[in-house]
Parts: sequence; structure tokens; C-alpha cells
Amino acid sequence: MAKRQFIKKMFSDIAGDYDKLNRIISFNLDMYWRRIAISRLNNPQRVLDLCAGTGDMAVVLSELDFPPDEVVLLDINDDMLRLAKNKLNGAGKRMKLHYITADVENIPFDDDYFDSVTMGFSLRNLENIPAMLKELDRVCKKGAVMSFLDIAHPESKIVARMFYLYFYKLVPIYTRLFTGKKYAYNYLPASLKAFHKQKELIKIIKDNGFENVSYQNILTGICAIYTITK
Ligand SMILES: C[S@@+](CC[C@H](N)C(=O)[O-])C[C@H]1O[C@@H](n2cnc3c(N)ncnc32)[C@H](O)[C@@H]1O
Repeated sequence: MAKRQFIKKMFSDIAGDYDKLNRIISFNLDMYWRRIAISRLNNPQRVLDLCAGTGDMAVVLSELDFPPDEVVLLDINDDMLRLAKNKLNGAGKRMKLHYITADVENIPFDDDYFDSVTMGFSLRNLENIPAMLKELDRVCKKGAVMSFLDIAHPESKIVARMFYLYFYKLVPIYTRLFTGKKYAYNYLPASLKAFHKQKELIKIIKDNGFENVSYQNILTGICAIYTITK
């Protein structure tokens, strides 16, 4: 099965458990990390939330003192977006929300439309990051800020050893107990193992036309936030 189809099916299978497992796996820190990622945006008005899933990045946007005018939640998976819609029912009073079923490689918006882009915990799932970057270059205004949060590779050896033990050995066991979906939570550690280290990803982003790129490690790199300014 192609990666895209596999990812689509997997998130349909675990959609109902997704939020609960995020809280458990991250010891309830994931929403805090999302807040740090969102704080990298510069007065967001028209935000594209890529791979929006169940909408937690948009929840954080809705809690800002000055929430954006408009947030577009884009995802290939309708089951995840349906959960986002239920969750964000109240947030719709603070900002305009649009739910778009689409692929990051083909973003159905005009050129120069967005001033901000967010993405939570999704880079590892993408088949073709350069194709997404090309689309982002097209749909973002000059000066737009993008903030991508994902699990990463700790740059401290001691933390890496502890984290990999936790993430590769323990997480698959207890996520299986919660979901009964063994394959889905074997995928989670495998996706990180196969994914670029922070500096490699920065190079890929730069090689694809964005000069102003940086990353910030959280807990030495258990997670990283990649910030790009167009
Ligand atoms: C790990 S979830 C992240 C959800 C949410 N952003 C969060 O912070 O919790 C990954 C999401 O990416 C979506 N996704 C994966 N590949 C995609 C693609 N090529 N285009 C759009 N969405 C994609 C999946 O459907 C899934 O909802």
C-alpha cells in the first residue's frame, strides 16, 4: 500500500483515540508544545493549519488574546476533520473556520493567500516535503511565517537514550493496550526512526527555496519547532 493510503487508513482507524493518546504519550505536554509553536507566528490573521487532524492547533489559535480572523483546517482525512469540527464548535465564534479535505501537495487556494501556516506532529507522515514546500511558497504571502512542530531526534546523548527507550519500546506497548491497533502504534516510532534529523530537515527546506529557516529544540530535541519566514 502506498504511504499516503496507509496513513489515511491508519488515522481513520485511530481517530477516536487520537487525542487521548497524544495526552498520554506526551504526559499532557503536547498542548503546551503547541502553544510554543503558535507563539512563533507573527500576529496571525489568515492561517493555514496543515494536516489539521482533530484540530488541536486551531484550539490553541482560538485561545490567543487576539485570535486570527480565519483558520483553514486542511487534512486528507475526513474522519479526523469531523472530530475537529465537533471540537471547535465554540471556537467558531472567535474566528472563521473552514474545513478542507485536501492534500498538502495540492492546496486549493489562490496565490499569496495566507500570512501564517501551522502544522502539528505531521512532517513525518508526508510523502513529499519538497512538493508541499512548493505549494506553500505559492499560497503564502511574502513575509508569511510558518511554524511546524513535530517529534524529533534529541541532540543530547543521554536524553536520546532515555527517549528512544521510551518511544521505541514502551509507547508501542501501552498504545496497543489503549487502541488494540498494533500496526498503528508500531508505525509511530518507525516514522521517527526513518525521519530526518533537525539539521537535515533545515537543509531540505533551504534547498527548496526558503532562506529564513530555523529550529528550536524542546527538551534537547524530543520535539522541535521549525520556523520558516517566506
Ligand atoms: C499525527 S496527525 C496530526 C494532527 C494534528 N495536526 C495535531 O497536531 O494533532 C497527522 C495528520 O496528518 C494528516 N495527513 C497525512 N498526510 C497528509 C497529506 N499528504 N495531506 C494532508 N493531510 C495529511 C493525517 O490525515 C492526520 O490527520
